[in-house]
Amino acid sequence: MKKIFLFLASILAISSAYAEKVELRTPNNSFIVDLDKGAEPKFVYFGPALKSQDIAELPRLGGGNGGRAELYPAYGATHTQSETCLAMRHADGNMSTQMLISDYKLQTIKDKAPNGADRTGELLTITLSDPIYPTTVHLYYQSYDDVDMIETWTDITNGEKKTVTLTQFYNPLLPVRRGDVWCTHFHGTWASEAQLTEEPLNNGTLVIKDKDGVRNAMVGRSEIMLSLDGKAQENYGAEIGAALLYSGNFRITVDTDDTDYHYYFSGINPDNSEYHLKKGETFTTPRTALTYSTTGTNGVSQAFHRWARRYQLRHGNQERMILLNSWEGVYLNVNQEGMDQMMHDIKSMGGELFVMDDGWFGDKYPRAVDNSSLGDWVVDTRKLPEGIPGLLRDAKKNGVKFGIWIEPEMANTVSELYEAHPDWIIKAPGREPVKGRGGTQVVLDMANPKVQDFVFGIVDNLLSNYPEIAYIKWDANAPVMNHGSQYLPMEDQSHLYIKYHEGLNSTLKRIREKYPDVIIQACASGGGRVTYGVLPYFDEFWVSDNTDALQRVRMQWGTSYFFPAIAQASHISAAPNHQTFRSIPLKFRIDVAMSGRLGMEIQPKNMTDEEKELCTKAIADYKKIRPIVQFGDIYRLLSPYSGHDLASTMFVSEDKKQAVFYWWKLETFKNQHLPRIKMAGLDPNKSYTIHELNRIDLRPLPCEGKSYSGAYLMNIGLEMPLSHTVEYNKQNDWSSRVLHLTEE
Ligand code: GLA
Repeated sequence: MKKIFLFLASILAISSAYAEKVELRTPNNSFIVDLDKGAEPKFVYFGPALKSQDIAELPRLGGGNGGRAELYPAYGATHTQSETCLAMRHADGNMSTQMLISDYKLQTIKDKAPNGADRTGELLTITLSDPIYPTTVHLYYQSYDDVDMIETWTDITNGEKKTVTLTQFYNPLLPVRRGDVWCTHFHGTWASEAQLTEEPLNNGTLVIKDKDGVRNAMVGRSEIMLSLDGKAQENYGAEIGAALLYSGNFRITVDTDDTDYHYYFSGINPDNSEYHLKKGETFTTPRTALTYSTTGTNGVSQAFHRWARRYQLRHGNQERMILLNSWEGVYLNVNQEGMDQMMHDIKSMGGELFVMDDGWFGDKYPRAVDNSSLGDWVVDTRKLPEGIPGLLRDAKKNGVKFGIWIEPEMANTVSELYEAHPDWIIKAPGREPVKGRGGTQVVLDMANPKVQDFVFGIVDNLLSNYPEIAYIKWDANAPVMNHGSQYLPMEDQSHLYIKYHEGLNSTLKRIREKYPDVIIQACASGGGRVTYGVLPYFDEFWVSDNTDALQRVRMQWGTSYFFPAIAQASHISAAPNHQTFRSIPLKFRIDVAMSGRLGMEIQPKNMTDEEKELCTKAIADYKKIRPIVQFGDIYRLLSPYSGHDLASTMFVSEDKKQAVFYWWKLETFKNQHLPRIKMAGLDPNKSYTIHELNRIDLRPLPCEGKSYSGAYLMNIGLEMPLSHTVEYNKQNDWSSRVLHLTEE
């Protein structure tokens, strides 16, 4: 396929007589730029894959109100009024920069993806230089041969004789033609993560950011969708998906000024983070991943999920174990007998893994409440006299795998670690540290190589001494609460946030190099690390500390826009719920948890036999649908935000032979009129047999055991009754359904 198209350069082009349109192609997308040595790199097109004949006809973005095509405007030499990607102070104090193409090349590549998988695609490297300063920037665009994803990032190299200061370091921007463009983005807070907002883009700037410093997906999320022709639809319409792959402070802006375009910027948040780049050093920005869908938000989600399972998530092609986590069951009150009992109980219900959460560690300062011991990663032998060997023995006896909770980046001021290394924590110079959880929690300074070694050592000690540990829950429960690194020199204090995440990422990388197989969950006070910035080192994440099934419908819905179900830890918990105190029947709790990576977060010994039986059945059924949920394509059908008192979603296996359909009633009114849900993603010509899972009704659904064509299910859909037909004293106001569809 010819990728480079020559055309006559505009008369404004500075040097060469010809400019080139260079195309990067994925299976269904084309990304086209206009490159001319001596000029700035320009955007031409991002959208459905084009034929070469059409590429030749693509117009340039005009100047003036027509739109600016420059992909990487640098501040000061020419770009002063509009937003810029790069801004810097040169060694001599000059604040103007001009970045012009000195070279570019397009090459096919075969390399390792962040999760270790082999990938192939193309890499476009554009070298930019300033005509009067020796600082250079490389812009990179990388495509994949098998998924619709283009990644872009930069590196900035200081060729000057002294240090330069970077004050803005975004990735190349993306112009999006004005029209009726809407932005979908996600915000939240503890116990209420991934709330969806949809708004039309107007004049001005939409800023999405998170400045937590540690858990940078809690308040703002760095993934957005842009719906190009009106409010987003699930299954049709042009939709761009964009995600910044960064674990630290970020800023996404969509700027709309006096031209015909919106401009999408993404990158490290420059607030309080100016970067001093020494002579000869290179600063590399985190990547932005882009996809273009013609099938609405589901098209974007499916592309991101596929890319995530293949190239981002650890073990994205392996089924996840069904687990019991001890947190909501016993909180900090772990002990040998209690853990043994929970292992036994989860095994008896069909589970495969038991995870011991917080509370197991601390010698001089035992972790009795959450105000001590972080940093002292030794077993509290008062609680666990036989230590980890005793737990592993019990896990083996009970026939389950064993996992353990740690919070490696943190300390309490009440800990032996803090007594020995008070200089290891983040703290403003000359001030007392600000403390978080328990009134004593502080953040370790991941910029410090000694801290990095310590954090690596926590995992290394556990896994080298006890290679049977199959799973680690890696938590992080505090933000950066005051600004200061005791490791970084005073003149580089503004590097704190960036160096923290560099240190975190390199430590995680080191762990993964030595321990590629262990399963690791990213937890950060719940969903504070639901970001592709760290996910290459993790297998999954904890969606939220809020396990209330009704609120989970919304949070898991929002999370599903960019993150696949295989990574969404989704647990059945107690009633009343420990966060909302709402009592939701077990059936509904199961039906929601089964739409993600199923687990339990409950004290099984408090469950009735009937409840255990229902969970046993659900776990057995989940094993049947696990490959569909975990590897299938998502089709969100009816949004919990739609105001229809109903939410519905489904997963379809890649070969379209099987599917799972979820239907959750969110509100109850007598004789309410719920819509009939049309399914999606099936093969219209295949015939599917319906089987209800987790059935509690006395009578089967009318569709039970019947077969319907995919066309029928997608054009007409199945009627779901408003409530369950159960014995009189078991009636309640909740209703939900899970249907398994199998090709006949
Ligand atoms: C955080 C996590 C919880 C649990 C507790 C333990 O809040 O999100 O799941 O692990 O810490 O202290």
